[in-house]
Amino acid sequence: MSQGSYDTSVLPLTITDLFAMKQRGEKITCLTAYDASFSALIDKVGVDMILVGDSLGMVVQGHDTTLPVTIADMVYHARSVSRARRRTFVIADLPFMSYSTPALAAKNAAKLMQFGGVQMVKLEGPHFETVRFLVNQGIPVCGHLGLLPQRVNQLGGYKVQGKEPVEAERIIAEAHQLQQAGASILVLECVPALLAKTISTELSIPVIGIGAGVDCDGQVLVLYDMLDIGIDKRPRFSKNFMHDAPTIEAAIGAYHQAVKQTQFPSDQHSF
Ligand code: KIV
Repeated sequence: MSQGSYDTSVLPLTITDLFAMKQRGEKITCLTAYDASFSALIDKVGVDMILVGDSLGMVVQGHDTTLPVTIADMVYHARSVSRARRRTFVIADLPFMSYSTPALAAKNAAKLMQFGGVQMVKLEGPHFETVRFLVNQGIPVCGHLGLLPQRVNQLGGYKVQGKEPVEAERIIAEAHQLQQAGASILVLECVPALLAKTISTELSIPVIGIGAGVDCDGQVLVLYDMLDIGIDKRPRFSKNFMHDAPTIEAAIGAYHQAVKQTQFPSDQHSF
């Protein structure tokens, strides 16, 4: 795709813009992307955020889990995505074991920002000290709670989290602690819709759901799932937006509109 037709006067979205969207009740849209062509298309449609997810280990590299993904892989894909976007806010995942100490997290987050060109890094789990350390170095952080794919071997599979009251209380407490540690955004994956609604209401930072119901401040899906081109079966919380769309651009546009108008996710795509 030629990039010559893009309006170079478009300013990149900032975290301030995303906070303002939460405050005025405008849903935030996000899709994963791993390369320049999809990044440019998602940007052109007007989707607010791109997540360069370590899900690339499964949908691009063909692994069973996200565990084999390296920081070098993430930097490579983040750089491809960042190069092609104009307005969309870009976040990249710190992969498995790349943030096992605050110092290691800072070293690898710096690679994603300096060489990958991203605006924020995401890490999975209740790593409050690490989040605080990164934020103190000027690195914006997105937390991730609920289903943590990097812990699939501990969890015993990709299962809905927070169904039991004690577990739900733990996730709520961790969400507050991540916000206090300085996280700017929280991703909530595969949790009951009511739990996600509680957390989205209680937190002042934007909460982006995936399999977490319609009441989050925004939604994210794995691009290959919503285009129905994934290797594995599409998860229940995702939707095939290619079903009624003549082009990939139209499918991404339909997702963007459906999220903005709170038509996605429906009960069928929630727990
Ligand atoms: O890696 C990824 O794509 C993610 C989403 C599932 C939120 O973390």
